[in-house]
Amino acid sequence: MEKTFLMVKPDGVQRGLISEVVRRFESKGFQLIGGKLMMITKELAEKHYGEHKDKPFFGELVGFITSAPVFAMVWEGENVIAQARQMMGATNPKDAAPGTIRGDYAVQVSQNIIHGSDSPESAEREINLFFNESDLVEYKKDINKWV
Ligand code: PPS
Repeated sequence: MEKTFLMVKPDGVQRGLISEVVRRFESKGFQLIGGKLMMITKELAEKHYGEHKDKPFFGELVGFITSAPVFAMVWEGENVIAQARQMMGATNPKDAAPGTIRGDYAVQVSQNIIHGSDSPESAEREINLFFNESDLVEYKKDINKWV
């Protein structure tokens, strides 16, 4: 089963949108297998966003992502990497369709609520940057047993 790394960014946490983001992915049918509220260090931010180190906005991006807590998550499901990116909407909220997370909740590209891995390679890299294997919980849901 495919896994992806998703993160509610500092603006999403400050605005109380963790539950809304989690609700959307749970309702869609994906399964949360890891999650934690954390502060990102400058060192981790520079590794996570390493591919953008030559971009003019790199300093602003690192400053923003380390400025307040984030909610880091691992989600599992069929084609979850591509489907999560669709649910997030375009990187720049001005281009994000209504109904997507960024389309519904964000205005500026520098504060766009959520990060999601863009490929299987980046998902593996980002999951390993933020989580130990022992942090992830694989489990089957059996609704009839619990209701
Ligand atoms: S690029 O240039 O196309 O490779 O960049 P992109 O993939 O669109 O964006 C990479 C991440 O940088 C964030 N971003 C910005 N932050 C601050 N200011 C500006 N101007 C800016 N432009 C892009 C963008 O939200 C992406 O963050 P993640 O967390 O990967 O979604």
